Amino acid sequence: RRVVVLISGSGSNLQALIDAQTHDRLGGEIVAVISNEHDAYGLKRAHEAGIEAVALPHREYDSRDAYDGALIKVIERHEPDLIVLAGFMRILTPRFVQRFLGRMLNIHPSLLPAYQGLNTHARALADGVASHGCSVHFVTEELDGGPVVLQAELAVTADDTVETLKEKVHAREHLIYPIAVQWCLEGRLQFSPEGAKMDGHLL
Ligand code: GRF
Repeated sequence: RRVVVLISGSGSNLQALIDAQTHDRLGGEIVAVISNEHDAYGLKRAHEAGIEAVALPHREYDSRDAYDGALIKVIERHEPDLIVLAGFMRILTPRFVQRFLGRMLNIHPSLLPAYQGLNTHARALADGVASHGCSVHFVTEELDGGPVVLQAELAVTADDTVETLKEKVHAREHLIYPIAVQWCLEGRLQFSPEGAKMDGHLL
């Protein structure tokens, strides 16, 4: 099974996926990593792991639609079974989402449906929530709104700051993302019109 990973930055989740693949725990092979930022550190991680690393800077395109069209072409050249968004900081066009519907996962630093969008840790802290975490979900046209397939939850303590929460959540992301990808590649996890299904059961 073939996986294409899209990134924009550090790529620590990409690294977790690469490590899982090295230990035969991914259920497939990462065939390409694509970044919209040419200097993303994740491209270096891919290169060092012997994975094709592609920089496709969005600034070189006139419109969101033109960029997504180019991105679709590069992705399809690699014939992926699954597209994994790992810190890809771009809002995708409906055309792009439709093209890969049911074959695209994202990870988000909150317990969805809480805190869609940006600055999740600061908003969770400001609300004084007792627990926080991260979610893997199928990508649909609604930003951070697709069916959730796996979450990790952690307790928020009195001395937590945006930085400590970010670090704790990141560590959980690295645990759950490879698992969700493996489930998907093994055919255990499916997207359906009613939501996400695991081994035939609605989640
Ligand atoms: C993660 O916090 C993820 O939840 C969000 O983007 C960040 C990516 O981090 N979607 P990294 O580049 O994998 O380190």
